[in-house]
Amino acid sequence: MDEIVIPSFIQIETVAGLCNYRCIMCPITESRVTGVMSNEVWTKILNRLLPHVKHIDYLSLCGLGEPMLDKKVHEKVRIAKDLGFRGTGIFTNGELVPETMSEKLMDARLDTLIVSIDGVKKETQSTIRLRSNLDKIVDCMDRFIFVRDRRKRQGKSTTRLMIKFVRQSLNESEEQEYYEFWSRKLKSEYNDKVAFYNVNNVGGRAYFPEKLSDEILAESKNFRCDEVYRRAFIAEDGRLNFCAGDQDGSHNMGNIFTHDLVEAYNSEMHRRYRATMDRGEILSLELCKNCSIARTISTKVIKDPMPNPGESSGLVQIQLR
Ligand SMILES: C[S@@+](CC[C@H](N)C(=O)[O-])C[C@H]1O[C@@H](n2cnc3c(N)ncnc32)[C@H](O)[C@@H]1O
Ligand code: SF4
Repeated sequence: MDEIVIPSFIQIETVAGLCNYRCIMCPITESRVTGVMSNEVWTKILNRLLPHVKHIDYLSLCGLGEPMLDKKVHEKVRIAKDLGFRGTGIFTNGELVPETMSEKLMDARLDTLIVSIDGVKKETQSTIRLRSNLDKIVDCMDRFIFVRDRRKRQGKSTTRLMIKFVRQSLNESEEQEYYEFWSRKLKSEYNDKVAFYNVNNVGGRAYFPEKLSDEILAESKNFRCDEVYRRAFIAEDGRLNFCAGDQDGSHNMGNIFTHDLVEAYNSEMHRRYRATMDRGEILSLELCKNCSIARTISTKVIKDPMPNPGESSGLVQIQLR
């Protein structure tokens, strides 16, 4: 019998199918359900996870939707922290984080705010992240940073920032400028980071110009996908998807309210997928052969802010365009 795997990275979809944006690479409009999870359901889910809390390094609020549309999102963080969950994170597009919410999230002891921004030029950002306003996002982040510095001086809890870039043909040329821009704002003393991920085809469900090329497939062939080794996803209705590439739940692993997470994560299908990946045969697997999520996770680069932004390129100051 192979080893039992306990997922260490749990993502919970607190907001499903609802978003103020329509990013071109995101299958948001295909969400099976729409809704905001109540704090009662959230607490019930966390209680189901509690037996495994010591093994869980990260607990993220993330799914097909914008978590900041939930007006009680800070209460969810507080409930999780009070129950002893570590590594709490919220993935957000960054435009719905007013100063008051920054304060509430830090009061609740949120560990990391992960902010998805895909361009340093306004035009690039608004071409990829439809309906977004880069000026508003930067303003929210400036206020977040201001609140955080003030709280630090007052000896109160603070939250680190991770600014996340999804690389695709429309924005790859401005990656360095983006890194320099955010390096000027982020601070190592809070363990802030800038993260770079390659766009993926969400298991073949995202329809955007990037093709799953032979080059990408060749690069992917020896990957072991974190989705079956480390990460587990719980949908807004409690459904346990097999992996992020199975958004429509055609390989339903049960529901967190009726199934144990670890049992579900060690199903016959999970064990078969892990054994096949261990043999370097990921591309023979039904769900993986047309999916680039394993590549996105395996090739991600997470950087500290540059100590002296602009020096390498000779730029003194970067302006938003
Ligand atoms: C689906 S969003 C939900 C949270 C929030 N609305 C946001 O944008 O961060 C979670 C993450 O998935 C990323 N994402 C969406 N579509 C993607 C794709 N096709 N390839 C790679 N990342 C993608 C987003 O940029 C974001 O960082
Ligand atoms: S902001 Fe997030 S959930 Fe909304 S469309 Fe963009 S990637 Fe999808």
